[in-house]
Amino acid sequence: MSDVSEAAVRPVLSMRGLRKHFGGREVLTGIDLDVLPGETVALLGPSGAGKSTLLRCANMLERPDGGSVWLDGELIGYEQERTGLRALGERRMGRQRQEMSMVFQSFNLFPHWTALRNITEGPRHVRGVSREEAEQTARRLLDRVGLGDREDAYPAQLSGGQQQRVAIARALAMRPKLVLFDEPTSALDPSNVGEVISVMKELAQDGVTMLVVTHEIGFAHEAADRVVVMAQGGIVEQGEAREVLDNPRTDVTRAFLGLGARA
Ligand SMILES: Nc1ncnc2c1ncn2[C@@H]1O[C@H](COP(=O)(O)OP(=O)(O)O)[C@@H](O)[C@H]1O
Ligand SMILES: [Mg+2]
Repeated sequence: MSDVSEAAVRPVLSMRGLRKHFGGREVLTGIDLDVLPGETVALLGPSGAGKSTLLRCANMLERPDGGSVWLDGELIGYEQERTGLRALGERRMGRQRQEMSMVFQSFNLFPHWTALRNITEGPRHVRGVSREEAEQTARRLLDRVGLGDREDAYPAQLSGGQQQRVAIARALAMRPKLVLFDEPTSALDPSNVGEVISVMKELAQDGVTMLVVTHEIGFAHEAADRVVVMAQGGIVEQGEAREVLDNPRTDVTRAFLGLGARA
């Protein structure tokens, strides 16, 4: 039954030979990365390593210069034609992009909308979900992120941690195949970090498929299945989360973890 098990582990996200340069500078040097269904992968590495660019190339907010991105077996951003690959237009790419939600460092909630409306707007107008159903889902998600009593609050009335939890609920409301997080706690007051991390840990436990750029080693240690470490546009180390974090093999990882270089 080997083809059954192979089908069962088809990656949700798959990158092959992904390359990107800005001007003369190679920022992604040929990345191969898979995220399996239900997996939480923590993407670590120093500032400038190319982590944000990798996420932005995953959903084609940034066009890669080479290589390919597959979501659940579907090529992203291009279609195969007889003569080769052809770039998809914005509309079709937008449809693919909806399958991946992104959570940013700076929440990006609409300030003049309530928490509830920030969450329902995408499903209603992009996915065509009815208002009633969108609100029902949004309330369930607000409950899930611990904000069941704040649906009428505007972003300015919420703390940074609460706003980020609304942003996470908004991301989930689109029923994405994958959620991409780019340093979701980096802009928060330290006292707000824990509440966001604990929501993310619950999502990881619930089997939400996530690729998370983070400096929160505790999160990576407790919630990630796998850790991938990047430096200078390439992957320098990866493996089972605790294995990598407890026994880092490269100086890049050791430095990132605040350990000295090996003697
Ligand atoms: N739009 C851009 N134009 C030019 N250079 C960029 C752009 N985006 C990122 N870079 C450069 O690419 C490198 C990697 O950036 P980034 O992906 O943001 O790294 P990280 O998220 O790991 O800190 C950095 O040197 C950055 O200055
Ligand atoms: Mg970044």
